[in-house]
Amino acid sequence: MLPKEDAARAILARNDRGGYTVPTDRLYPFQWNWDSAFVAMGFAVFDVDRAYRELERLIEGQWDDGMIPHIVFHAPSDTYFPGPDVWGTRHRVPTSGITQPAVFGMALRHVHEAALAAGTAGATERTKVLFKAALRSHRWWLNARDPEGLGLVSILHPWESGSDNSPAWDEALARVPTTTTTAIRRKDTGHVDASMRPRDEDYQRFIHLVDTYRDCGWDPTRQWEAAPFKIADVQMTAILARATADLMRLAETLGTDEEKDELSRMHERLRAGLADRWRPDLSRFVNLDLISRRDIETPTQAGFIPLVALTLDDAQRTAIVAEVERWLSGMFVGVPSTPSFSPTFEPKRYWRGPVWAVINWLICDGLRLNGSEALARRIEQTVVQAIESAGFCEYFDPTTGEGLGGDTFSWTAAAYMVLGR
Ligand code: DGY
Repeated sequence: MLPKEDAARAILARNDRGGYTVPTDRLYPFQWNWDSAFVAMGFAVFDVDRAYRELERLIEGQWDDGMIPHIVFHAPSDTYFPGPDVWGTRHRVPTSGITQPAVFGMALRHVHEAALAAGTAGATERTKVLFKAALRSHRWWLNARDPEGLGLVSILHPWESGSDNSPAWDEALARVPTTTTTAIRRKDTGHVDASMRPRDEDYQRFIHLVDTYRDCGWDPTRQWEAAPFKIADVQMTAILARATADLMRLAETLGTDEEKDELSRMHERLRAGLADRWRPDLSRFVNLDLISRRDIETPTQAGFIPLVALTLDDAQRTAIVAEVERWLSGMFVGVPSTPSFSPTFEPKRYWRGPVWAVINWLICDGLRLNGSEALARRIEQTVVQAIESAGFCEYFDPTTGEGLGGDTFSWTAAAYMVLGR
């Protein structure tokens, strides 16, 4: 047991709303897609049955076209905006109309392997159902979000990236009008200091995008055509590619020959697309803005996430490790979501500098896959120590280790249990 393991488990128990876990009370009072995938891996440390439940409840929100929405509104709450009435998706279980990083497939393999290790009864049958759901969602990703066949999937809303106000979106988001038909009634700044959250102007643009896509009837083709914000995102693509590799692993015992072939083709397509985004002069991978057709060179953590899906050559590996070290230099805890040498760095504002435990989870996993065990362990330890001294906060100031945003955060508790081991 880790020093704060009881506290971590208690947070998951407290945020449990009946088989699904809210990210934190009040600020995020529903089930969020990628939060739940990380949380399922946390549950797998001590309760495999509950880990499966987390994924099964998320799938209750899956759309007929395969998309897994970013929020499933299982039960009403008035502490969050925008709620189901704003999204207007008319799904049988109310949901939002956009998605989030495809960590689901990674979580499924993780939970399945934990179940096999624990000898959990009925695990294979449960995994099979979830495997089919994951495969349908990966098909959706490639059809709906890579219609040009780039081998890169795109986000149509910053919320899809999970890195809502990342400086990577600044230029592209500035093209999105601030006008909205929906009246904006922010609730987040009633729970968390406004200086740690996106600005009002960001929210106007976020809601403009929601209005635009709702007017498209949430039809993927119409949205793709209407989107004023469209970014082929390396973080999203890398997670999808890695999740595809994890599904390939599951398919070895659970899949049909057709499914195995289909997954291999997806995997090749995504890895080729990602490999093309490496920029040797920047020592990282970069996004592509599909409206301006230009690279987005702004430094953010996303540039390192392809490590989870690619095997780098020696020159790339040396360069990326040196770059990660540069970002860590002078930091109390890393890896920052924006490096301190960037003019856009704000150490307390959400995705513009703070350290996120789940991002470290991905970066360390990628470093390890690429042979950098010692660096991975060092980064994991700084975040575990930050959690032990500051608590299970949403994110941390990289310059001081101060805990920020919402407290008693589910995915921070899950990350603690997994990274601390
Ligand atoms: C929010 O409301 O802040 C969320 O990040 C959107 O998913």
